[in-house]
Amino acid sequence: MVEIVPEVKKIGEYVVIFTKVYEGPRLVTDADVAVIIEDVEERIFLPRTSTTDFSVYTSKENVVENLSGVYTLIFKSLFKKFKVTIFARTKGKTIKKVLLFERGQTKEEKEPLDIIRTMNVLLGFNVNIDKIIYVDKRLEKLVDRATRKRILQDLIKPRKKIDSVEDVFVGIIDSMKYGGQEWVIENPEVVGWLKGLYKEGLEKETKIGGQVGIISNLLAVLGGSPTIYSPVLSREQAALFRKNVFSVCPGRRPVAECISTEKSKINWVFEFDRTDKLFNIRSKQDGRFIAGSQMEEYRPAWPDINNIDADAIILSGFHLLKKKYKDGSTAKQIIKKTIEWVDGAAKRNIPIHLELTCTEDESLRESITELFYHVDSVGMNESELKQLVKLTDRKATVKDSLAIIKHMKEIADRFGLKRIHVHTLGYYINLYKTGEWVSPENIKKAMAFASDLAAAKAFGDAIEKAEDLRMSDSVSVSDIGLKEQEKLEQNINMKNGITKMNDYTLVFLPTKVVSHPKSTVGLGDIISGSMFVIECGYR
Ligand code: AMP
Ligand code: GLC
Repeated sequence: MVEIVPEVKKIGEYVVIFTKVYEGPRLVTDADVAVIIEDVEERIFLPRTSTTDFSVYTSKENVVENLSGVYTLIFKSLFKKFKVTIFARTKGKTIKKVLLFERGQTKEEKEPLDIIRTMNVLLGFNVNIDKIIYVDKRLEKLVDRATRKRILQDLIKPRKKIDSVEDVFVGIIDSMKYGGQEWVIENPEVVGWLKGLYKEGLEKETKIGGQVGIISNLLAVLGGSPTIYSPVLSREQAALFRKNVFSVCPGRRPVAECISTEKSKINWVFEFDRTDKLFNIRSKQDGRFIAGSQMEEYRPAWPDINNIDADAIILSGFHLLKKKYKDGSTAKQIIKKTIEWVDGAAKRNIPIHLELTCTEDESLRESITELFYHVDSVGMNESELKQLVKLTDRKATVKDSLAIIKHMKEIADRFGLKRIHVHTLGYYINLYKTGEWVSPENIKKAMAFASDLAAAKAFGDAIEKAEDLRMSDSVSVSDIGLKEQEKLEQNINMKNGITKMNDYTLVFLPTKVVSHPKSTVGLGDIISGSMFVIECGYR
């Protein structure tokens, strides 16, 4: 890895910048280096300067001198606060570092992408295959009149789990009406029926699924090299990973070398948009219904935390635990073991985030909240927040940002969380313990980056390379988000998206929304995951 190691000194009216470039432990003595200095307060640029080869930046007056690999620039300046951007090119590759110089000290100003590329992120434990299924007339034709009648009857009081083919339809329609949900398949015969959908031509595509699969691939596309832990990893699952995703099995190895099972963990994802209809019932929104399979092996047995090198940890997947396994172990025991593991990571000061998903089973949901006392941060969408609050308050609503904030605060207080994040269609809210996390300005940067990512993904379906982020440039900020911002400015004294609430600081961001998204599954994961990683980079 190539790295820029700078040193900035102010001596009287002179500023001296020494830059060294390393490739691993080796000092690079023949790099091209360019420096741009910007006065932050006045926003004045000094002449751009560089070693002779960086022609765009070369000016005759100020040249960066290469003194055997110590690239030195001396200039006269009365600026108190300025920004130094250093570029270094070696073997045709250019890297960049930004520093902020203030009151005699330099601070590194990191860009979100730089953070993603340099952070060591560990993610565990849900990796699965998502079979994306079309929701259209062809699906209706798979059931007879009597079944259709039962579906319409069951819709009155949905079971919220899958025992029959009828329940799959009920789940899709309920999600079209009330927003995306995930139900667990309890009857293996339904899995057989779902597998047959590809023969009917209803299978649109196969994607990587699960928070761990989705977030790790995204980090890899953006230039990171994350590490995953998954108790179930078949050849088919492994093939869906980007090449710079690694796995602990144990020891950090390429995913393809860590295959542990023949059988894959598969979920079926029924994606719909607001124009779709099923049995003449019209969808009210874009979204998805997930039919999640259960597997005996799909439970974590965490690798020794002391052998893991991580700067940040993201946990998820507990919604698919079985209450009881054939060997007698239970979801509660697995969560207890996870807590011990989390405490081990916390002792090593590694920040830990738990990403929630729709969890219909109340007792499982309750057990998952035990983890809240031990992790630093939790993230979710507004429906998941509602599910959480319903454990103690049946009448809870999440109708607007004020209601959401009220519940976020209750949860943060109750579990002593350092950070809680909620994303909705139109805005994101972060609440964090003042002084114990990151500055509100940097949190906003992380949130804005996550919004760009979500917009780019919704717009173009997939992010294949870092440049695809530009697809978000044409997407505008949501009106709902802007209206909620005004409401908060009037009601809770928020300014520039920031306000204090007792021990907590709140950061609000109206976000970009694509009017006709190509796909919505996994958007929440990339929002929460990228934001947490970037915030950790600013700690
Ligand atoms: P989740 O349900 O957790 O996967 O989260 C979905 C999130 O994705 C929403 O809360 C929005 O923040 C974001 N999202 C959904 N649809 C769009 C869209 N059309 N454009 C931009 N962001 C979206
Ligand atoms: C849940 C589902 C998984 C899906 C993911 C998307 O983890 O189990 O199938 O890919 O959510 O957010």
